[in-house]
Amino acid sequence: MTVRTYDDIAAWYDRWVGTRSMREDPFFPAVEALMGDVAGRRICDLACGQGRVARHLADLGASVVGLDRSAKLLALARRNEEAVPRGIEYFQADARSLDGVADGTFDGVICFMALMDIPDLAPTLSSVARILRPGGWFAFAIIHPCYNPAQSGEMGSPEGVVRTVRGYFREGYWRSDTRTGPPGKVGAYHRTLSTYINALTDAGLMLERVSEPRATGDFAERRPVWAEVPAVLIAGCRKSVTNERA
Ligand SMILES: C[S@@+](CC[C@H](N)C(=O)[O-])C[C@H]1O[C@@H](n2cnc3c(N)ncnc32)[C@H](O)[C@@H]1O
Repeated sequence: MTVRTYDDIAAWYDRWVGTRSMREDPFFPAVEALMGDVAGRRICDLACGQGRVARHLADLGASVVGLDRSAKLLALARRNEEAVPRGIEYFQADARSLDGVADGTFDGVICFMALMDIPDLAPTLSSVARILRPGGWFAFAIIHPCYNPAQSGEMGSPEGVVRTVRGYFREGYWRSDTRTGPPGKVGAYHRTLSTYINALTDAGLMLERVSEPRATGDFAERRPVWAEVPAVLIAGCRKSVTNERA
């Protein structure tokens, strides 16, 4: 089986996310609520893709570094930076090591809709903890692990559409042609909720807030099932000041 990468689908991904502002994204405002005021802060946009989150944070006054593994998505991000300079720096880096990124240099790390794309969770989270300053925050959003294992879908019922889930305990890589987003193109790595929470603790990232936004407005009309169960899981964590575990 040939597994496609984000380099293979960079142009498609750029079109798929479109040009709407992050404020109009159904999930980003809930992440933003966990970050607090970013003006004047040094923020890392981890797995930044074509840079849509980095640009939003820079527009809010943050000093932003975008990191990603995909050279092609980074080229799109840099092209955007050349067209409208915001002072964002982009570097190619693998989230699992973040080689070349100095320890303790960021006030915050955001990873929007990408942890499920990264094969190894433990080294990724320990890299996040390493580059955060003590007391710094880590905010992330992922497709909700409880409602998005490989064998999940939707089924009509007399009460409306219901989300169906099988194989929750089967962790690892999956891809499905029936998915319209990235899991249908490059696949994703399914992990249980307990794997995520325990890995955060092991990395020394204390879980402070969790948010499971309910679909509203246009999104709920298009996908009513996501007004019944959450499509996305959002979490805000903090690196301890004493840094005992990281
Ligand atoms: C669904 S995209 C999200 C991109 C961006 N955060 C956004 O919201 O548009 C997932 C991203 O994870 C990146 N990625 C996957 N594995 C990675 C790794 N090991 N290290 C760094 N980035 C990685 C991909 O290149 C891609 O840009």
